[in-house]
Amino acid sequence: MTTTPIVALDVSTSKAALDLVDDLGEACRFFKVGAELFTASGPSVIREVQARGAEVFLDLKYHDIPNTVAGGVRAAAALGVRLVTVHAVGGPAMLRAAVDGAGDQGRCGVLAVTILTSLGAAEVASSWRRDPGLCIEDEVIRLAEIAKEAGVFGVVCSGKDAGSVKQRFGSSLAVLVPGVRSEGGAMHDQARVSTPAEAAAAGADYIVVGRAITGAPDRRAALRQIRQQL
Ligand code: C5P
Repeated sequence: MTTTPIVALDVSTSKAALDLVDDLGEACRFFKVGAELFTASGPSVIREVQARGAEVFLDLKYHDIPNTVAGGVRAAAALGVRLVTVHAVGGPAMLRAAVDGAGDQGRCGVLAVTILTSLGAAEVASSWRRDPGLCIEDEVIRLAEIAKEAGVFGVVCSGKDAGSVKQRFGSSLAVLVPGVRSEGGAMHDQARVSTPAEAAAAGADYIVVGRAITGAPDRRAALRQIRQQL
């Protein structure tokens, strides 16, 4: 069981993104393009990353009516990205539409975001008018069940919840873990973080690492250290 690291290109220009891709070179072959970079640069940055022989995860976290999400995912799949995200709370019909939009899931896998790693129990409770004592792990499993039923490739959850998801669904559901920090690293805006070792031990198929690499003085060394912990 291997855990693939994906580096988040959370920068504002395609030049900064491609500098990071080139800087990491062969050490990283999978990059995440998210809202900031995609809004600023459009699909061209995806093609540039792919032209360097690396895979792309397009993380736009679609949450809309089924027809719109199907179209968004179809357009993403046409760009040749390997992974796309949608919000699990969009509901079964939206999730099924995303899966249909992706077409052959061997080429572009749909990942359903369960509970954002930036949210704690109190925020989830107040946004969704739930009991403040709610158990995030139960919510993650509940949403993962809905997503699995709709036929998604995998889910996004914190490293704290990844073990339960794997226990419940095994290899039938891929797990991607963001909010990864080395022991004692800055939390930034994340609430439920895990170390690379914790995520790997929980059975994560992918981890996403952003600021722990982009903000490091030596980005290659930071990635090397993370790989050593997997
Ligand atoms: O800098 P940091 O490692 O916290 O960045 C995490 C990345 O993973 C960000 O690009 C964020 O958008 C993404 N992400 C997340 N939580 C999710 C899904 C994706 O933090 N549930």
